[in-house]
Amino acid sequence: MYPDLKDKVVVITGASSGIGKAMAEEFGKNGAKVVVNYRSSAEEAEQVAETVRNNGGQAVIKKADVSKEEEILALIQTAIDEFGSLDIMINNAGTEKAVPTVEMTAEEFKRVMDINLTGAFIGSREAAKYFIAHHIKGTIINISSVHDIIPWPNYVNYAASKGGMKMMMETMSMEFAPAGIRVNNISPGAIMSAHTRDKFTDPETLAQTEKMIPMGMIGQPEQVATVATFLASQNASYITGETIYVDGGMTKYPSFMGGKG
Ligand code: BGC
Repeated sequence: MYPDLKDKVVVITGASSGIGKAMAEEFGKNGAKVVVNYRSSAEEAEQVAETVRNNGGQAVIKKADVSKEEEILALIQTAIDEFGSLDIMINNAGTEKAVPTVEMTAEEFKRVMDINLTGAFIGSREAAKYFIAHHIKGTIINISSVHDIIPWPNYVNYAASKGGMKMMMETMSMEFAPAGIRVNNISPGAIMSAHTRDKFTDPETLAQTEKMIPMGMIGQPEQVATVATFLASQNASYITGETIYVDGGMTKYPSFMGGKG
């Protein structure tokens, strides 16, 4: 647990399931005040908020589609109205769907960019604006992906959005460092979540994926969440502009394992 996270106000986009949910619950254990953002299921979000409260934190839920600028603004305003401040912004909401590049419409490309990249841009910009105006040494965390450095056939929109997130984060980290604002990414590999449950319950896909992971297993959302609380805490006070890969070694060329090639 990180005592300095107690009463800190954190906004988490896409927090009604998967990694976002696990992060909300983990911040709850640390006594934080969490704005649980959701897009479609208020019931799921309310369940997460209830767990945050049972864990010792405070929570409110707020509907917002991160592909809509005014909804992100309203989301951040909720933190200020309900909890009086903003200290930590976590841009987590994301989407993915396989489409071969030659069949992908410009709409399908833009939709993923709007949610994964532009949404994170607006969330980061608004958080930084608030931190600077109120002299808060806040922190921004984006949930990216191993596909910010690993190309991913049939997911050109997704890989482009995540690669963009990497440079966006690094650029912002330099701009905001003089104000004491830290900006970092967490890049998960194959994690069992609502997005991925279908493919990872298929034994063949699971076995194929495990081969790409030196640790030989799919990760759990909680294994990402504990990295987020660390990065948001004072224990990470000198870390900015950094990407932490939470991937069981997936980004380390596992096809070379065995060492005979
Ligand atoms: C995606 C998962 C995928 C993993 C590794 C993540 O960004 O969300 O669907 O399994 O990358 O390829």
